[in-house]
Amino acid sequence: MPTETVYGLAAVATDPAAVARVFAAKERPLFDPLIVHVANGDPVLQLAGIVSLDGFSPRGRRTLESLWDRFWPGPLTLVLPRTSRVPDLVTAGLDTVAVRMPRHPVAHALLVAVGIPLVAPSANRFGRISPTTAASVVAELGDRVRYVLDGGPCALGLESTIVAVDPDGGLRLLRPGGVPVEALVAVTGRPVGAAGPGIEAPGQTPSHYAPRTPLVSMSGPIASADTPGPAGSGTVAVLVARGPTAPAVARLEALGLVVVRAETLSATGDASEAARSLFATLRALDESGAERIIAEPWADRTGLGHAISDRLDRAAAPRPR
Ligand code: TXA
Ligand code: MG
Repeated sequence: MPTETVYGLAAVATDPAAVARVFAAKERPLFDPLIVHVANGDPVLQLAGIVSLDGFSPRGRRTLESLWDRFWPGPLTLVLPRTSRVPDLVTAGLDTVAVRMPRHPVAHALLVAVGIPLVAPSANRFGRISPTTAASVVAELGDRVRYVLDGGPCALGLESTIVAVDPDGGLRLLRPGGVPVEALVAVTGRPVGAAGPGIEAPGQTPSHYAPRTPLVSMSGPIASADTPGPAGSGTVAVLVARGPTAPAVARLEALGLVVVRAETLSATGDASEAARSLFATLRALDESGAERIIAEPWADRTGLGHAISDRLDRAAAPRPR
């Protein structure tokens, strides 16, 4: 199903057999829990039977309400205490569940038609590039899923921000995404801490969002690089962060590389445009036939730049063999 962030592979959240097929289709390890998606509407009603807020203090409750009042429906996932109605498979056995209310008319219509919340991990094979068009879903999972609901290209293009909310309203960032941390702080008036390692953010593996082609990250703007650095030699596809591609291409050619394709995330340096184009651009460069992809850092780690940089870092991270 389409969402405003990326396409998701949906299954009825309360049906363990259906959820198991999602893990199988994605080749996703069972330690990596799923996000439960609910239809647009009053969060208290939509989350009834899925999350349990019994242990929440008035302050915790206020913090939570300020988040969903402001950001739902939208690209914010909240990790909250769960009920026993949620299958263990969904939460990887944790006592919390991740929930989100997507802002996409087709996702909403599907959720209403089914009448039960849906799990929906990004509709890619595990560790690969998330799909932002129906055609990319077909490329990733076309041999494994029977239907793709085409809702057009995703407006945001990056996954939701994931935040754990504790019973007193303490916040921890588990994944940067479509809602900037600065906005969470502004709305709640509370600091947002970092996730603990391991169990707190399962599934946030260093290598993720990876093209099949090795991707190397330059330390700064390619146009002013004085060595090809980790790019070595041979054919390359080039990911320019902002501005035109021509200066970067000219520089790499002067350094002896053969550029087979070059793309920019945003010719004007606009973060929203860069977020929207990131995964589709990585996919296009992956299909160029180059030996390597050379990517420029986004440089600005504030606002949406936090999530853009996170995805680029993980795309470049060493891969498990
Ligand atoms: O934008 C999105 O969130 C997309 C669209 C389709 O809605 N979905 C998505 O799902 O990105 P997925 O499966 O690719 O990412 C889910 C991540 C897990 O890898 C894990 O890090 C975190 O959510 N997560 C889920 N449940 C959790 C829990 N109980 N505690 C901590 N982290 C959890
Ligand atoms: Mg994913």
